[in-house]
Amino acid sequence: MPLVSSTEMFKKAYGKYAVGAFNVNNMEIIQGIVDAAKEEQAPLILQVSAGARKYAKHIYLIKLIEAAVEDTGLAICLHLDHGEDFEICKACVDGGFTSVMIDGSKFPFEENIALTAKVVEYAHAHGVSVEGELGRLAGVEDAVKVNAKDATYTDPDQAVEFVKRTKVDSLAIAIGTSHGAYKFKGEPQLDFARLEKIAKLLPDFPLVLHGASTVLPEFVAKCNKYGGKLSDAQGVPEDMLRKAGTMGVCKINIDTDLRLAMTASIREHFANNPGDFDPRQYLKPAREAVKNMVKHKLSQVLNCSNKI
Ligand code: G3H
Ligand code: 13P
Ligand code: ZN
Repeated sequence: MPLVSSTEMFKKAYGKYAVGAFNVNNMEIIQGIVDAAKEEQAPLILQVSAGARKYAKHIYLIKLIEAAVEDTGLAICLHLDHGEDFEICKACVDGGFTSVMIDGSKFPFEENIALTAKVVEYAHAHGVSVEGELGRLAGVEDAVKVNAKDATYTDPDQAVEFVKRTKVDSLAIAIGTSHGAYKFKGEPQLDFARLEKIAKLLPDFPLVLHGASTVLPEFVAKCNKYGGKLSDAQGVPEDMLRKAGTMGVCKINIDTDLRLAMTASIREHFANNPGDFDPRQYLKPAREAVKNMVKHKLSQVLNCSNKI
């Protein structure tokens, strides 16, 4: 089974459930995720950020993911997360990825369109699907005020023009989520009316939700119990993610929740075993913690178990 693009996954999922896109940085994270997807018989996107590519090197990640495909028999989509320019997208297309994101969201509309269209032209010629982004996630850039809603959230009419002119295969939208563990100061709120409008104007077109970790309180508490300092951490409630998955959001990005699960496990391990220095002793339970988190996401949040 080779790596696959996201096109068929999204067609099957549209309006019913979302496919999980999990960030990977090393072998244990990859193994935890794919073992969970295999047990749940779920479609799967593994995504690699520029930071992950720099940390682990492109070739190591590709080989590990090829090994995961061979080991599990799963149809996995390998996706570049937040590609910031044409060059990194091209390197990933040339280097075996089956999907890339070009994140031109920091540029003015016309520049974002020109950059995204250039990536689409190259990627499509090589059978690779492309995710674009329009609107900026709240809280990402220091200069953007979180409450400057209309300035940062995705404009529905612009989304239609963006998709038409760029020919992207999916679009990441900003409706109130943000990256990391500190997403909301008060009550969590997503702009579902905006999502509904975008989905109505772009029928059957796959939308993507970034910044979709839930930051489950038990993992924050566990980190804090063993020396962490994550007191204001707050994520996207699970019922909101379940709702988004029925409204045209076909891909839900999760990284922070895996980091928290892994870190909580490692912190607990060292609190209980201060004399350990064999990496296998703390990475084995950490890998299991990633697997359990992903199983929870696939079966309880994304509703994509038994969908392959
Ligand atoms: O959207 C960002 C992802 O969580 C990846 O984070 O750039 O630290 O690898 P990273
Ligand atoms: P979280 O930080 O909420 O996990 O979001 C990850 C993400 O959007 C990766 O692109
Ligand atoms: Zn993201």
